[in-house]
Amino acid sequence: MIELIDVSYDVTEDNSDISILRDINIKIDERFVAITGPNGGGKSTLARLIAGIIKPTKGKILLDGKDITDMSITDRAKLGITYAFQQPVRFKGITVSDLIRLASGKDISVSDACVYLSEVGLCARDYINREVNASLSGGELKRIEIAMALARSTKLTVFDEPEAGIDLWSFQNLIQVFEKMHEKIQGSIIIISHQERILDIADRIIVIADGKVTAEGDKDSILPEMLNATGDCRFIRDPECARV
Ligand SMILES: Nc1ncnc2c1ncn2[C@@H]1O[C@H](COP(=O)(O)OP(=O)(O)OP(=O)(O)O)[C@@H](O)[C@H]1O
Ligand SMILES: [Mg+2]
Repeated sequence: MIELIDVSYDVTEDNSDISILRDINIKIDERFVAITGPNGGGKSTLARLIAGIIKPTKGKILLDGKDITDMSITDRAKLGITYAFQQPVRFKGITVSDLIRLASGKDISVSDACVYLSEVGLCARDYINREVNASLSGGELKRIEIAMALARSTKLTVFDEPEAGIDLWSFQNLIQVFEKMHEKIQGSIIIISHQERILDIADRIIVIADGKVTAEGDKDSILPEMLNATGDCRFIRDPECARV
């Protein structure tokens, strides 16, 4: 279980403090939680705080009751936190199979590594020996990163917009990958997403806007309210909407 207690995050720019996140209180022990909200609301910042890439200005972060607020990224990873970036990193000189093997933490066979690649819709044969460099497309890189998170299969996995840059066809398969993870996972998955189909399969949705948690609950309570807030009649079930 991951818990954020009164977490705030400020940055200093031109001698003035900018508040990015304010007094966040979140406790996650469900298997699948989606975080959503408008651009610039603070979702990726929250993911970076959980992964330990940045440290809160105020407040505490607990993993299974243990205070990890001051722990490094590496120590958090050892405790079982995996973070899949919104924009994945490229590694020159390292092949896709190296990455999957490193992620799994075991000396897995090429065919095992291939299973993970196939799960994210990549033809394993074409990718397994490719170098993780600039020649891979954004969508390919993103899928390799998801395959790595599957291979790691830790207590807590945070995906930051896994759908970003992924084409519609692959996106359908991605939903199935997450549904399968949902069934199999021992720990929790947090997915930051703008996609209704991902929000649909979450046990709980947390909305972050303007640096605060503005709503949380199950999809039946959150989705209609959120879609209504867009004011877009395509999303609003009330037939009167289009007539106004
Ligand atoms: N180091 C920083 N310095 C200045 N501003 C920052 C810094 N880090 C984040 N921000 C700002 O904080 C806000 C929240 O950023 P964040 O990346 O967390 O948003 P997000 O909810 O992930 O948005 P998106 O949906 O577009 O990915 C943005 O306005 C961003 O510009
Ligand atoms: Mg983001």
